Amino acid sequence: MRSDDSSWWRQGVVYQVYPRSFADADGDGIGDLAGIASRLDYLGRLGIDAVWLSPFYPSALADGGYDVADYRDVDPRLGTLADFDALVEGLHSRGIRVVVDIVPNHTSDQHEWFRQALADGPGSPARERYLFRAGAGADGDEPPTDWVSMFGGSAWQRVPDGQWYLHNFAVEQPDLNWSHPGVRADFVETLRFWSDRGVDGFRIDVAHMLTKDLTEPLPSQATLDALPRDGRHPLLDRDDVHEVYAEWRRVFESYDPPRTAVAEAWVDKARVPLYASRESLGQAFNFDLLQADFEAGQFRRVVQDNLELAAASGSSSTWVLSNHDVVRHATRYGLPHPARSTDGQPAQKHGVEWVRSGGVEPPLDRFAGARRARAATLFMLALPGASYLYQGEELGLHEVAEIPNGERQDPTFFRSDGQDFGRDGCRVPLPWTAAGPSFGFGTGGAHLPQPGWFADYAVAVQDDDPVSTLSLYRRALELRRQFQAEEHLDWVETQNSEVLRFRRPNGWEVVTNFGAEPWPLGDGRVALASTSFGGADLPGDTTIWIAPG
Ligand code: NOJ
Repeated sequence: MRSDDSSWWRQGVVYQVYPRSFADADGDGIGDLAGIASRLDYLGRLGIDAVWLSPFYPSALADGGYDVADYRDVDPRLGTLADFDALVEGLHSRGIRVVVDIVPNHTSDQHEWFRQALADGPGSPARERYLFRAGAGADGDEPPTDWVSMFGGSAWQRVPDGQWYLHNFAVEQPDLNWSHPGVRADFVETLRFWSDRGVDGFRIDVAHMLTKDLTEPLPSQATLDALPRDGRHPLLDRDDVHEVYAEWRRVFESYDPPRTAVAEAWVDKARVPLYASRESLGQAFNFDLLQADFEAGQFRRVVQDNLELAAASGSSSTWVLSNHDVVRHATRYGLPHPARSTDGQPAQKHGVEWVRSGGVEPPLDRFAGARRARAATLFMLALPGASYLYQGEELGLHEVAEIPNGERQDPTFFRSDGQDFGRDGCRVPLPWTAAGPSFGFGTGGAHLPQPGWFADYAVAVQDDDPVSTLSLYRRALELRRQFQAEEHLDWVETQNSEVLRFRRPNGWEVVTNFGAEPWPLGDGRVALASTSFGGADLPGDTTIWIAPG
C-alpha cells in the first residue's frame, strides 16, 4: 500500500461491503469476515482503493447490525478480532484501505450500558447515558411527546418501571445522550481502538443526529417539523455536534497518515460543508445522484451544485448511486421516473412502490435499467472526487422484490404495518456461482432468499466475459487510475439537452447520451463504452470515455 499518499480519499473508489451478505466461510448462512478474506483476489482485481465494512460488531440484528451491542468487538457469527486483523492485513497487502462504520447516535438495547440503565432504574447514573424521560398523561403512560421515529411509530418506548426512552430509529436502538462526558470519551476510545488496529478511515452513521437539546417543555412533532434547520433544531444538525467532531479530528490527526472520515449527514445543502471541512469529519456523502432520475438536466445540476459545495469546504465531492439503504440503481433506472414535489425531491423513495407490489407494478424494464445503470456508473466514475460503490452493483444486480414477508428482516417493514417493505432487497447475499447452495455465497443457505435469476448475474458467469458488467467495472477502475486528473471539470456544450459532455483538466472526456436517439459523436478515441457499439453515433443510454491527451 502506498501509505505516503494521505490524500487517497479525495478521489478514491470505496467499495461498500455489507458483511452479512458478501461471502459466508462457515456455512451458517450469514456472511463473515473470513468469507470476505476468501475473496481478496476478487476485491484486488476489481481495482478499488478502499473497502468500507458496514457494521460487523456484536448485534442482535434489529437493524442489520446498525444496532451495535459492543463497539470494540466482532460479532461471533462473523468471526473474531483475529479474523478482523487478518482481513485488514490481507486488504492492505493488496493496496486496499479499510473504512469501518461507526454508529454513534444509538446503541443496541443489548449494549451493556443500556442493560445497566434498565437494571439500575430511574435517576441512576447509568440512565444518564441515554435519553430517558417521564411519560405524559396522568399516569405517565403516554409517550413524552408525539415524536415519530425514522422507521415509523413512536420515537419513545416505555420500560417496565414506567420511564420512556428516546429512539429515533428502531425500538432496539436507544439514542445516546451526547451531553454525557462518558459517552464522548468512550467513542474516542473506539476510534483509537480501530485506528490502532490499522483501520484507515471511518464512515459515520447519521452524523447529524448525535447532540440534542431536550430542554422542557419538549416541542410537538409539528413544531419540530416547522423549525428551521439552522443549527439550533432540538434534534437535527445542531451546531454543537461539531464540538464532538473537533475532538475526533484531533484523534484522526494523531495518526500517520491521519485517519479519514465520511459523514452520513442528511442536512440542508448549505450545511454540508460544516461536516466536510477539515476541522470536522473531512468528507460528507452527497446522495443527490442517488436521488436523481437518469436524466441529463438533473445529473448536470447535481454535479455542478456538489462541486461548488465541495469547493466551499475544501473537501472533495463524493458520488453514490447505490448503497444498503436504497433500491439498486439498475432497478430504479428501469422504472418510470417517480413523481417529484415542487422542490424536485421524489415524493417517496424511488422504487418502493415496485418493491411493495412484489416486483410487478410498475413493470420493470430490466434491460434498460441495467444499460442505464452502466452508463450512469461510467459517468460517475469520471467525476472529480470520490466514488462509493455498493457490493453487487458491479454485477449489474437488480433489487430483489420477491422476498416472502415471513423472511423479511428490515425493521422499517415491521414498524410501518407493512407499508414500507424496507431495504432487504438490496441486501440479499451475492451470487458467486451460477449453481450450488446459495449460489456460492457459502456452503449453507443464505439469510435472505436469493431468487433464481441470480444465476445469470453470478461472478463466475461474468468473470471471463469481456462484455459483462463486472468486466466493465474492472476496466473502468483500471482506466480511472490511469486517467485521473485534478479535481475539476469543464462542461462541453453539446447543443442537445439529452447529452452531457465534460472534460477533465488533462483532456479526459466523458459523453453520456441520456436520451433514446443516437447522437453523432464525430471525434475522439473511445477508450471505454458502457455499451458496445460500432459506428460514429453514440447510442442512447450510453456513456463513453475519451482518453486524455
Ligand atoms: C443509516 C444507515 O445507513 C441505516 O442502514 C441505518 O438503518 C440507520 N442509519 C440507523 O443506524
